[in-house]
Amino acid sequence: MAKRSPIQTAVFPVAGRGTRFLPATKASPKEMLPVVDKPLIQYAVEEALAAGARRLVFITGAAKRAIEDHFDSDQELEQLLEKQGKSDLLRQLHSVLPSYATCIYIRQPAPLGLGHAVLCARPAVGDEPFYVHLADDLIDAREPVLSQMAAVYAGHRASVIGCQVVPRSETGKYGIVATRGRGDTRRIHAIVEKPRPSAAPSTLAVVGRYLLTPAIFEHLERIGRGAGGEIQLTDGIARLLGEEAVYAHRFEGKRYDCGSKLGYLQATVDYALAHPELGGEFRAHLRRVVARGRAGGQGRPRKR
Ligand code: G1P
Repeated sequence: MAKRSPIQTAVFPVAGRGTRFLPATKASPKEMLPVVDKPLIQYAVEEALAAGARRLVFITGAAKRAIEDHFDSDQELEQLLEKQGKSDLLRQLHSVLPSYATCIYIRQPAPLGLGHAVLCARPAVGDEPFYVHLADDLIDAREPVLSQMAAVYAGHRASVIGCQVVPRSETGKYGIVATRGRGDTRRIHAIVEKPRPSAAPSTLAVVGRYLLTPAIFEHLERIGRGAGGEIQLTDGIARLLGEEAVYAHRFEGKRYDCGSKLGYLQATVDYALAHPELGGEFRAHLRRVVARGRAGGQGRPRKR
């Protein structure tokens, strides 16, 4: 039997309204936006399962029912596909969530920030280390990023934050860490939420993957509202640093900011090109689009 992973729980904060994608996200969660044929939240869950998580905790809010429906079994649809002999589709449906995984849904009563969302998971997480995964940050990696971070945890037995270098002009969009040491895994000595470029202690940014020890909860209980008037996970981590070692891990992989339209489109194109069934035809289509553009022809559809 496979060894039990020390990280059994993954928390998915999915309460945000996704205003950058309105009107697409008016009645449907941004986490359900598909990249080719899978919603963002499914990529997130697959990454957490690959990294050994078995308990999946979704921190939800208004208009997020579709996420519960997605991970629930749908007897009616299954019977229909069976009757139609569509065994391939049936298999795909079953693979949405393996039977050994458990989903827990906790409602965040008000949009008080990422730190507050993580705190809402406390009763489900208990006294064990856990993952936090932000589904907006889609990362294509040879080894899933949470697995890379679990390997760091195995060596250090301490919290690990997934990080990436960003242009200095963009520090105001991220939590930024200051580190000591060399290499891809370094100890953090300061972390600050969304600093101006001139005030940023470095250009190493937090990108949507955390492996945290349960000590974080006490700090999240105590901090007040920070940047943007919200209870920030970054501020909780800043306090945790005073008590425990916390590591920044520069992961291997390409990250797409699917919270932005451009990042989402880039992910869609790259994932479509890599898709085993669609890739070939899609590449040919893109070539035609580019050739039309070079020839000065119409590269875009008439309607928007
Ligand atoms: C959140 C965190 C921030 C982190 C970012 C990564 O910000 O607060 O520290 O760098 O996610 O995507 P948000 O993008 O929700 O404003």
